[in-house]
Amino acid sequence: MSGRAVLATSLALSGVSALQLPVQLPLQQFVPSKLPWSSSSDSGVDSELIAKPLVDSETLQKHITSDALKARAKDLYEIAKKSEDEYNHPTRVIGSEGHLGTLEYIWDQLSQLGDAYTLSKQGFPAVMGNVLESRLVIGDKVPNTATAFALTPATKNKQPVHGDVILVKNQGCDAADYPTEIEGNIAFIKRGTCAFGTKSALAGKAGAVAAVVYNNEDNDDELHGTMGTPSPDHVATFGLSGNEAAPFIKKIESGEKVDAIAYMDAMVESIKTTNIVAQTTRGDPENCVMLGAHSDSVPEGPGINDDGSGSMSLLEVATHLAKYDVNNCVRFAWVSGEEEGLLGSDYYVSSLSPEENSKIRLFMDYDMMGSPNYAYQIYNATNEENPVGSAELKELYIEWYEKHGLNYTLIPFDGRSDYDGFIRNGIPGGGIATGAEGVKTKEEEAMFGGKAGEWYDHCYHQLCDDTTNVDLEAWEINTKLIAHSVATYAHSLDGFPKRDVDATIKAESYGSQVKYHGSKLVL
Ligand SMILES: *[C@@H]1O[C@H](CO)[C@@H](O)[C@H](O)[C@H]1NC(C)=O
Ligand SMILES: *[C@@H]1O[C@H](CO)[C@@H](O)[C@H](O)[C@H]1NC(C)=O
Ligand SMILES: [Zn+2]
Repeated sequence: MSGRAVLATSLALSGVSALQLPVQLPLQQFVPSKLPWSSSSDSGVDSELIAKPLVDSETLQKHITSDALKARAKDLYEIAKKSEDEYNHPTRVIGSEGHLGTLEYIWDQLSQLGDAYTLSKQGFPAVMGNVLESRLVIGDKVPNTATAFALTPATKNKQPVHGDVILVKNQGCDAADYPTEIEGNIAFIKRGTCAFGTKSALAGKAGAVAAVVYNNEDNDDELHGTMGTPSPDHVATFGLSGNEAAPFIKKIESGEKVDAIAYMDAMVESIKTTNIVAQTTRGDPENCVMLGAHSDSVPEGPGINDDGSGSMSLLEVATHLAKYDVNNCVRFAWVSGEEEGLLGSDYYVSSLSPEENSKIRLFMDYDMMGSPNYAYQIYNATNEENPVGSAELKELYIEWYEKHGLNYTLIPFDGRSDYDGFIRNGIPGGGIATGAEGVKTKEEEAMFGGKAGEWYDHCYHQLCDDTTNVDLEAWEINTKLIAHSVATYAHSLDGFPKRDVDATIKAESYGSQVKYHGSKLVL
């Protein structure tokens, strides 16, 4: 008994220096009442040591208040202002003072929770794109829907380039689709089948000076794509709506020449950024419940709803969970570089050994918890198309909303947030959200209030995503649901499916179907 206590104390002390905790904290706060590797089955033996009550959902939920969340949002906004010197406005984009401050804040808050968590930082290289200016003129028209793809390179010498518009055959996924006239000219490529990055690289290899990818659907939608992983073969690449592309295609197909001027001032750089992970020191470390939110924002604004809300929900839940014992380990992750294309979560999952991967029983994604014109959205994950357990998680959310008399909708599980890497690596997952740039329907107005015909978050990826851009009621309700999800699985995974042996096959089929990788389309 005493021998154990000594061991526990020395363990705790080594934890103190590793975490650089303030020395003035009383020592007993660091003494784990249970050794980190002890499992739920031997809790009887340890009973005299257990000082904390076992977590239960109702109790954990009661700790969540909108006042605390509101205070967190204010803290985060102040931190975002640290970027003003460099960006002229508040932002928490990776590499900025606002993001470094966010990481420091999360780390500092967690460090104050005594021995409840083992904290770790995971640094990784991230590519960052910045488009300073872009212009596309086709014939004598300036298209309304021309967009610069994320991570696009500049045009040569950051100067305008001029050439004929050359139609690429099929979907432009094969080098043979690029006629020799592409050399020195501008490639016009249909969306579909392969990634935008692949098309741009093939255009570059064929000698194009710029590329335009037009939508494969005849509509007026802007095409917000990303090049994905940068390649030296990439050329400056634009997106264009199907409707705006159609008249030019018709002209060229009838034998007329159409010329264009493309200009892109952009750069792609590599920086280092950091994921933060906090794992409970208690609970069975072979069976971990994992949840994540992203710590970064887009460069355009402070990202208080996206994803300050999810990040702060996790911090609140972690803070209160620290008062309780758990049977299964809980691992919180604040991943970075989500807005650049899920970089942090991809890096995290891909760096897990198969053994470490198998310890994660499920991953829950919490991105945008308090959209001002919210809907309660649940990712429509299924056991048929996703690793087994994803459907059980979806059921947990459904039951909770139903129990509280709240409406919900199911939304596509299509790769738009950090769950993507987990699903691709065989880990069951899901999550909830409250809506980004989608438009609320009439039915949803009846279900959730708010305004039909408007975006769920009218400040999505903009400067106005500030402290006034969160619906506190929705945020509080969803944070209680997060607490419920954590407490339920931390308490027991009985009946939750074991890890799925067929998951890799499903991950492949999932991977070939999703069109998004983060907020931007990849194909
Ligand atoms: C959810 O996914 C299942 C399986 O793919 C599909 O049949 C169902 O229509 C989806 N539900 C919604 C509301 O999208
Ligand atoms: C749920 O949606 C229905 C309409 O489909 C509406 O009548 C009801 O008031 C909504 N419930 C809540 C709690 O908003
Ligand atoms: Zn987000």
